[in-house]
Amino acid sequence: MASRHPKDAPLIIVGAGVFGLGLAYELAAVRGYINVTVLDRFAPPVPDGSSVDVSRVIRAEYADPVYAQLSADALKEWRGEGTPWSKHYNETGFIMLGTESNGYVRKCRAMREQLELGIQEGKEIFEPHETDSKLKELYPDLQADLRGLLSLRNTMGGWADAASAIQGLAERASQAGVSFITGRRGTVTSLEYSGKRVTGVNTASGNTFKADTVILATGSWTNRLVPDMGHNLAAVGQPIGFVQLTPEEAKHLERMPVMQIFDTGMFTFPPTPDTHRLKIARHGYGYATEFEAAGGRAVSSPKLIGNNAITGFLPGDAEQALRDGLRVFFPEFGDRPWCSLRMCWYQDTPDGDFMVDHHPELDGLFFATGGSGHAFKFLPVLGRNVADCFEGNASKELREKWKIHHPSTRNPDVAMGQDGSRGGPPLRRLSVQEQSKL
Ligand SMILES: Cc1cc2nc3c(=O)[nH]c(=O)nc-3n(C[C@H](O)[C@H](O)[C@H](O)COP(=O)(O)OP(=O)(O)OC[C@H]3O[C@@H](n4cnc5c(N)ncnc54)[C@H](O)[C@@H]3O)c2cc1C
Ligand SMILES: *[C@@H]1O[C@H](CO)[C@@H](O)[C@H](O)[C@H]1NC(C)=O
Ligand SMILES: *[C@@H]1O[C@H](CO)[C@@H](O)[C@H](O)[C@H]1NC(C)=O
Ligand SMILES: *[C@@H]1O[C@H](CO)[C@@H](O)[C@H](O)[C@H]1NC(C)=O
Repeated sequence: MASRHPKDAPLIIVGAGVFGLGLAYELAAVRGYINVTVLDRFAPPVPDGSSVDVSRVIRAEYADPVYAQLSADALKEWRGEGTPWSKHYNETGFIMLGTESNGYVRKCRAMREQLELGIQEGKEIFEPHETDSKLKELYPDLQADLRGLLSLRNTMGGWADAASAIQGLAERASQAGVSFITGRRGTVTSLEYSGKRVTGVNTASGNTFKADTVILATGSWTNRLVPDMGHNLAAVGQPIGFVQLTPEEAKHLERMPVMQIFDTGMFTFPPTPDTHRLKIARHGYGYATEFEAAGGRAVSSPKLIGNNAITGFLPGDAEQALRDGLRVFFPEFGDRPWCSLRMCWYQDTPDGDFMVDHHPELDGLFFATGGSGHAFKFLPVLGRNVADCFEGNASKELREKWKIHHPSTRNPDVAMGQDGSRGGPPLRRLSVQEQSKL
């Protein structure tokens, strides 16, 4: 199908995370678009965006066939020799853990058996009665108490340095001719309309930038800019914590795998190679905020102005959950004080599928968001697939998966992020006092 977008028309991409930069790079470097501008609140890696931080899990275990295939495609790039991404990737292995009643681990295992994913498999399955002892044989320094958990181990998987990978992607986009505008001039406060057409963006500096198409790759901030997406998108905070190890302590854990317990949502990584910190986080249903956006609408979102990563505040129950998780994974360091805590933001969709589609009613507006807490690992292949949706030649399967849903198809009482991968307590709305400390 021919693209309906002239390659010399100005395109504005709002958001310099994995979606925005991946698309910008693909359009400018591969598909011949000559007028692509990325706007963001900060220069990438954006300190309070999602596509940042010392580590992101890279796994090819998925219960869904589309993501199973896409993540296998991405994994080939992360681990491929001489790719731009391999230097940001560390193949420590990935271990999925869950009780027998956790269906997600079993589904992922079935999916790997069902699909020919084109990657060599380095996987093993341990039943609950053998998980703890088998894993301790394989990883003698492992301290975790993993009794009673089913496990799926894959030696092909690990973690990527998110900040450095995004930095690399931004550099490549810049070298391909993409322009960047950051700071107040890059902070979009509203869209500019002409009837039912979006014609540009207005920014906090008072500038208006005109575009043929505006692409919102705005992650957790998206609902601030568009009024009618609440049934498709909701931002939720997820807690992360770090403890400091000495170089000697870190050395012992250097060869541990990335691990995630799907019942509680807790996941952890080997210590950071340079700073010797242990990171623990939760892939859960998260915490919602309530801010007033344009037109008096209440939306859950991080702040637009200012850096959300600075205060380091976490609600008491979130901190306690991280503490409990730390004690399970690292009993020896279970009581060590936190050296850093923060809330990190997911942009959730009802089913955990990304939202990559043209607005159903407004011309000139395209979305590339809805990462639902699992988009980073697709970095090497995300731009290509998003660009196919933008140009209209993506497979029917992918278009269907990433489409915008009509409000009538969504039950507002059902929580977001229902792909089966989340663990821990249900979504909780923060109190006014808690929110004021974020
Ligand atoms: C704690 C945590 C752990 C995660 N772990 C994993 C993992 O292990 N593996 C994995 O694959 N994925 C993981 N994810 C998910 C993954 O990181 C995200 O899905 C992905 O980074 C989303 O990218 P994005 O481009 O949509 O959003 P972002 O990276 O947040 O980018 C959106 C950008 O838009 C900008 N923006 C928004 N509104 C405006 C505006 N009005 N004006 C200007 N700029 C604006 C923001 O500043 C931001 O930089 C995790 C996410 C979190 C939060
Ligand atoms: C890009 O678009 C802007 C806005 O329409 C225009 O001013 C500029 O000349 C264009 N640049 C190129 C290289 O075509
Ligand atoms: C991978 O981890 C090992 C062990 O901590 C470290 O020596 C190496 O530098 C890491 N590689 C990257 C790319 O971070
Ligand atoms: C869509 O078209 C582009 C060329 O514009 C091409 O690079 C890409 O591979 C096509 N995608 C699919 C799924 O056919």
